[in-house]
Amino acid sequence: MPFVRNQWYVAAHSEEVGDELLARTICGEPIVFYRTSAGRPVALADRCVHRRFPLSASNRDGDRIVCGYHGFTYDPDGTCVAVPGQRRIPRTARVPAYPVVEQDTLVWVWIGDAGKADPARIPRAPWLGSPDYVTVRGMEPLAARYELLVDNLLDLSHETYLHAGYIGTPEVAETPITTEVDEDAGIVYVSRRMKDAECPPFYARSTGITGRIDRWQDIEYHPPCLYLLHSRIAPAGVEPGPDGDDSAACHAEIVYAITPETETTTHDFWMVSRDFALEDEEVSRFLAESNRTVILQDVAALNLLEQVIAGEPEGYQELSINIDTGGLAARRLLARMAEASS
Ligand code: FES
Ligand SMILES: [Fe+2]
Repeated sequence: MPFVRNQWYVAAHSEEVGDELLARTICGEPIVFYRTSAGRPVALADRCVHRRFPLSASNRDGDRIVCGYHGFTYDPDGTCVAVPGQRRIPRTARVPAYPVVEQDTLVWVWIGDAGKADPARIPRAPWLGSPDYVTVRGMEPLAARYELLVDNLLDLSHETYLHAGYIGTPEVAETPITTEVDEDAGIVYVSRRMKDAECPPFYARSTGITGRIDRWQDIEYHPPCLYLLHSRIAPAGVEPGPDGDDSAACHAEIVYAITPETETTTHDFWMVSRDFALEDEEVSRFLAESNRTVILQDVAALNLLEQVIAGEPEGYQELSINIDTGGLAARRLLARMAEASS
């Protein structure tokens, strides 16, 4: 499938964009990111107009980039302001600047027609910047197409098999899901509510709840990039109050940003925000380490799938069952968006 263009994608965690020049390819487009002295993130095409030298391998002069090959100098808006050996700067000497927005501790970049970029369309993940939550995060490079990560995240029944001993228990695969699609907003919802289930080590060690639990997994996928998993963990039988108060439960907001790098590689950004054990750094360390381990299990599986796909004959048919309804809905929305943007 072609890339879904005219969309916002997460390019980086805010903390990754600073004084250094950061090279990152998004949807096949090489981009250099940095932050101006005023703190504003900048995204420019990572290719000097002169002889293609990567600007990310060049140097900063204040808020400007000076090409490391022959010194073409660019403003943060991409305009070339100096060339060596002559006063006159060719009119076409500019590199494309990408619309960038920093929101919810993420740096979003617009891939497509810059004139169509509307920051109001960026989906929100308010926990990430909230003082009521503590977040751990990372990014794992995936040698697999982003569609495989979408499939993976929309069907969590794989937790039981791929992530046993971390977040998988028998109940995840056993409990049926409900799937809803908001066609107008373009959002896929998948919900799995487990009653009186085993508490996996990931939550037992972090929440301190030792017995059986009620475990909710409510997925909200905003294609193409943002995936939210609202995870509720409570001692078995503890329901939210009639007024909606749910302070007796623990909540983990698990956020993924699924950003295609090339047609067969992906930036797998992950974040785990929690509203419990806020002060406990040991819990932060544990969640960061366990979640990374879990993701590396996914990465290994998806890298393997990418190799299988590369070697298979045209027209191979998969078999889908009930657990795949969320993934299939996501594929349908993505195909529709890709077509609309091409
Ligand atoms: S390639 Fe950049 S100045 Fe020559
Ligand atoms: Fe997984």
